Amino acid sequence: MLRASQIWQRYGESAILRGVDLTLAPGKVTCLLGRNGVGKTTLLRCLMGLLPLWKGEILWKGKNLARLSPEKRARMGFGYVPQGRQIFPLLTVEENLKITLPARKTERERTRAELYAYFPVLKEMARRQGGDLSGGQQQQLAIARALALGPELLLLDEPTEGVQPNIVEEIVALVRDLSRLKGITVLQAEQKLSVARRIGDAYAILERGAAVARGEMDALSDADVDRYLAA
Ligand SMILES: Nc1ncnc2c1ncn2[C@@H]1O[C@H](COP(=O)(O)OP(=O)(O)OP(=O)(O)O)[C@@H](O)[C@H]1O
Ligand SMILES: [Mg+2]
Repeated sequence: MLRASQIWQRYGESAILRGVDLTLAPGKVTCLLGRNGVGKTTLLRCLMGLLPLWKGEILWKGKNLARLSPEKRARMGFGYVPQGRQIFPLLTVEENLKITLPARKTERERTRAELYAYFPVLKEMARRQGGDLSGGQQQQLAIARALALGPELLLLDEPTEGVQPNIVEEIVALVRDLSRLKGITVLQAEQKLSVARRIGDAYAILERGAAVARGEMDALSDADVDRYLAA
């Protein structure tokens, strides 16, 4: 469903992505692996349209979206949760959610109820300021905000980074459910191999600006882990 081919990107003179090829299996969770600074965030931002491509093609349902704005991509089903949970700290949880909840009342109520069912803690905290939530709760709020738009493809940038272990488990279970129960296609940048192994159906490894290895998660070899992921 999503096929990115020969993605090139540069910041000024330095090329970060040098011909990334990536195909996502529909309804599956693919983990984007790679050491610090290899360009995982850059690739997700390029896919969402938040950074311009230098060269390359992003095919979604057979259409090339590479030149479309992030807003257009969102309308076509792309959802994005940035690294570092960028919620509004001074708005309440409810206000943070309202930003992306549907405008029509019945749909809005249905979506809100569904999100609060996924994240009971957000319902409990609905009137608290976003900035008062724990890191993990803020991450859940950021994910809820993206889900409010009903994405078919969800780009998650290290959602378990700096998150307490019990909430990591909740996020793992949620992402599995989103793919299995709702058929959402997920691309998750992930540094923690233990999380990737549990959450991912498939993996792709970035190294020196290219996707150098990919496959079913079960087939991720120790040799590739040592070669591309070990510190
Ligand atoms: N705005 C920018 N201008 C110049 N260089 C940048 C910019 N943003 C990122 N970079 C560089 O691009 C490279 C890739 O960064 P990116 O954030 O995409 O990596 P990452 O794999 O997401 O890293 P991390 O694991 O730390 O999240 C890094 O060398 C980084 O320093
Ligand atoms: Mg990153």
